Amino acid sequence: MREKIKIVRTQKSLRAQITAWRLNGETIAFVPTMGALHSGHMSLVNLANKKADRTVASIFVNPTQFAPDEDFDAYPRTEKNDVDQLQAEGCDLVYIPRKGSMYNAHHATHIKVGGVAEGLETDHRPSFFEGVALVVTKLLNRVAPDIAIFGEKDYQQLATIRRLVEDLDMPIKILGAKIARDKYGLALSSRNKYFDSEGLDIARQLNVIMRDCANALKGGADINRTTKICARDLLDAGFSEVDYVSVADTNSLEILQGRISQGRISQVRVSKDNSVQGKARLLIAAHCAGVRLIDNCAI
Ligand code: PAJ
Repeated sequence: MREKIKIVRTQKSLRAQITAWRLNGETIAFVPTMGALHSGHMSLVNLANKKADRTVASIFVNPTQFAPDEDFDAYPRTEKNDVDQLQAEGCDLVYIPRKGSMYNAHHATHIKVGGVAEGLETDHRPSFFEGVALVVTKLLNRVAPDIAIFGEKDYQQLATIRRLVEDLDMPIKILGAKIARDKYGLALSSRNKYFDSEGLDIARQLNVIMRDCANALKGGADINRTTKICARDLLDAGFSEVDYVSVADTNSLEILQGRISQGRISQVRVSKDNSVQGKARLLIAAHCAGVRLIDNCAI
């Protein structure tokens, strides 16, 4: 029979368990989350199970990555259900730090990642990645895994964490996991719980419109023109606001302009660095029925 998942709430018991596994020669993969788990999160746990001997997940709704006008208080908290799902997926341990044990009253350290963390999301959520970088650094220090897994759903977050881990010499391999979607193609998200059926119908248009845009770009359509059409299509479909529809270099996230030929950029880059000719990614953030959605796909 499968071992029961360990629920750990203190750093001390977390370290004791990790040390015991390490002494046994076992490797550890880590999946940080904010809870309200769904099958997208479970796909990360599943990947973790394949990549290491032990899988650790964490659940912490991180206050530093929410702006004052965002949904920190309303963010769904479903601990019992989360733990049941993690147990069923074969996760070995879930770390649920107690409220208040992450940031002490004297906390004064900030982490600001440049490059990939600038632009796109940062234009609309200025301190979001500072909050993410801080909590992820603390979680990686506490868990000290061999591997940590993040979803491509939050594409810029994944790129930011790759940068952070490399820049701060953390000996941890970062793996990206594919976006899990519902049968209509909507990327699974804890915030989808906020939708009524009308909102959900609109939200499900996002991936369809995104794919049309990606196909046009793949066919060599002009980036500026095509992303504008995409933004207009989103508004026509019922989205209330479009934060961005952008095409960026897959790795550096530099914003690209011009046309794409066979998945490669054939011309103008906005940035100073013209050297890398990488593949392109289409990234979108838009609001619908009071919920901010993000999605992205390869071009
Ligand atoms: P959260 O939104 O709970 O997501 C936890 C992880 O699950 C992230 O790596 C996210 O990209 C991934 N994920 C969410 N929905 C997904 C989907 N549909 N397909 C694939 N992966 C998906 O992202 C965070 O929490 C936080 O910012 C965190 C990294 C935990 C720091 O607080």
